[in-house]
Amino acid sequence: MTTNAAAFAAAQAVIPGGVDSPVRAFGSVGGTPRFMASAQGPYLTDVEGKRYVDLVCSWGPMLLGHQHPAVVEAVHRAVDAGLSFGTSVEGETRLAELIASRVPVERVRFVSTGTEATMTAIRLARGVTGRNLIVKFAGCYHGHSDGLLAAAGSGVATQALPGSAGVTEAAASETIVVDYNSPEALEAVFAEHGESIAAVITEAVPCNMGVVEPGDGFNRFLREITAKHGALLIWDEVLTGFRATATGGWGLFGEVEGWTPDIWCFGKVIGGGMPAAALGGSAEIMDHLAPLGPVYQAGTLSGNPVAMAAGHATLEHADEAVYARVAAASDAIREGLTSALTAAGVDHSIQRAGTLFSVAFGTSADGVKDYADAQGQQVFRHAPFFQSMLASGVYLPPSVFEAWFVSAAHDDAAVQQVLDALPAAAEAAAQATPQG
Ligand SMILES: Cc1ncc(COP(=O)(O)O)c(C=O)c1O
Repeated sequence: MTTNAAAFAAAQAVIPGGVDSPVRAFGSVGGTPRFMASAQGPYLTDVEGKRYVDLVCSWGPMLLGHQHPAVVEAVHRAVDAGLSFGTSVEGETRLAELIASRVPVERVRFVSTGTEATMTAIRLARGVTGRNLIVKFAGCYHGHSDGLLAAAGSGVATQALPGSAGVTEAAASETIVVDYNSPEALEAVFAEHGESIAAVITEAVPCNMGVVEPGDGFNRFLREITAKHGALLIWDEVLTGFRATATGGWGLFGEVEGWTPDIWCFGKVIGGGMPAAALGGSAEIMDHLAPLGPVYQAGTLSGNPVAMAAGHATLEHADEAVYARVAAASDAIREGLTSALTAAGVDHSIQRAGTLFSVAFGTSADGVKDYADAQGQQVFRHAPFFQSMLASGVYLPPSVFEAWFVSAAHDDAAVQQVLDALPAAAEAAAQATPQG
């Protein structure tokens, strides 16, 4: 049997940093990244045979838990029929119909990653409006395309980078970054550049600087101000879609308030653990995409039949009982987390939207409202907290700027293991000092 250390050493020899996505690195928590060998239900098992309760869930997709029998069966059936044809398959239509039955989109275009979905959404918004500028919020992450890396959350925040080398000034200059939860800042940007703004892109609920709850009416304000100035609202549900609630982040805002965004981006859950993502919207907007319209977008593996099968089976089985179980597990873990931190005397806020949540250390009672608050927290408490949880067999996101993910497979035993691990981790967080 190999060890995590040996697997990591071998990976580092051929893969930059030993990881294919920086969020998997243990840079901000120290120690050796775990190399997973298998997963089942709420558990991951690493190459050393050690089992963990999984609170990352592949960063969101595994809503039903690992190896849900219906998903595995659908994937096996698809694999038996062929891996990829380079033609349209009926599975694309079926998954598009299923998405359109859950949220108000008339057309869906599948891509392979969330990054492609947001990148294409921006090109589409520019093509539709004939304008150049994009407004994004500091701390929101929309994938790693050039124009969207400024003040991005997730791995960019974890590594404390302002953006990315290799992004040209020209690309960066077409993105205006605004503080989250600040209608005033957005008013000022529209007052100055209103005629040139193609779109405002936002996470339905920001989850990549930790979870940040949109202030009262903030998302509705985004809908109103974009409409008023002839700009589009790009609604990034890559992370929250069909996870925060049955109708995603939209279910917390637009659905109850009676509005819809212009372009939706989906990913993660709609691929059920396989590479699938999508953008969607009205026929009027979406039909600007090639081959009907002049906005070009393509993909060799877009709408891959195996990915469509995994996504369809996942979404089809994501019924009320699934969301109820995810909510119950999420509530129990959140309550245990805040009790343990309170008992250990650690100032904190639990950031929450629907079933998604994260913890911020050393924050005021108001919690985290924007990127500056997120960056101002006591980040140093996270590493010992994380390591203590890991030692107790709980796999958390290795960054304080990420949401915790639970699945419908997180049964009472898995939740109890998390609850049992929390007091020692809270104590480790309490003992932490800025110097480490
Ligand atoms: C809100 C949001 N948008 C876009 C992306 C990019 O998706 P992908 O990693 O599939 O490219 C992510 C990834 O975490 C995300 O959280």
